[in-house]
Amino acid sequence: MLVVKLGGSVVTVKDQPMTAHHENIEQLAEEIKAAWPSPIVIVHGGGSFGHPVAEKFGLADGFTSERQVIGFSRTHQAMVALNTIIVDTLHDKGAPALSVSPSSFITTDDGRISKADFEIVGRLVVRGFLPILYGDAVLDRTKGFSILSGDQLAVHLATSLGASKLIFGVDVDGVHTSNPKLVPQAKLIQHLSLEKLKGFVKIGSALTSDVTGGMLGKVSEAKAAVEAGVEVQIVNATKPGVILKALIGEPVAGTILAR
Ligand code: IPE
Repeated sequence: MLVVKLGGSVVTVKDQPMTAHHENIEQLAEEIKAAWPSPIVIVHGGGSFGHPVAEKFGLADGFTSERQVIGFSRTHQAMVALNTIIVDTLHDKGAPALSVSPSSFITTDDGRISKADFEIVGRLVVRGFLPILYGDAVLDRTKGFSILSGDQLAVHLATSLGASKLIFGVDVDGVHTSNPKLVPQAKLIQHLSLEKLKGFVKIGSALTSDVTGGMLGKVSEAKAAVEAGVEVQIVNATKPGVILKALIGEPVAGTILAR
């Protein structure tokens, strides 16, 4: 089984509120359909859909006021709107995508997944479906509610379902020595062993801002998957053909995290 997390910066236009990146979604749907029917689970991020709404209502801080309740609903609904675009596009390509709503079966404890029945997702795959999940607003035991990132969700899915590979599709070629969007000399790190990975996370967290451009959080989450024996690959999902190659196991530019 393969788990793929498609970043919000790939499936949405980040600086335009509630704007899907239709071109990327079309291309990715085409490639996912081409790799299907191998067992695949997709998770997508929030980008310009979930994040601005969650931020407006301060949901990441947990429940602090009644007015956040509508904010929770709106955040979820923004994610449903994006999910519908992605699912519809996959249907148009002939893939049996099935929307699965994280807030209805996952709860967190202080932001970390504490209760979830992933068996249903596994069974859907076995039955021939292509489950499509997403980062979502979820109920939280300690904080009332929290924002569950697609990254954390994808790692849990991959480890619980015993996936052979977890692919992160992002808008850069992989993990670099510094943020490639800001530093042109940034070098792509093609392979990160668990040992190097731990060092990388330690160096990164000692710095005040995320020099790797959002990559640190992803790599920190991915560590658990690597420890559980899942190979993690970070590739550029905005480049045509890359996700298909990663799905069918052909060599492709990117970073491989493995033991
Ligand atoms: C965020 O998911 C979901 C919400 C804001 C509700 P992610 O954290 O995985 O989204 P991206 O990939 O960073 O945009």
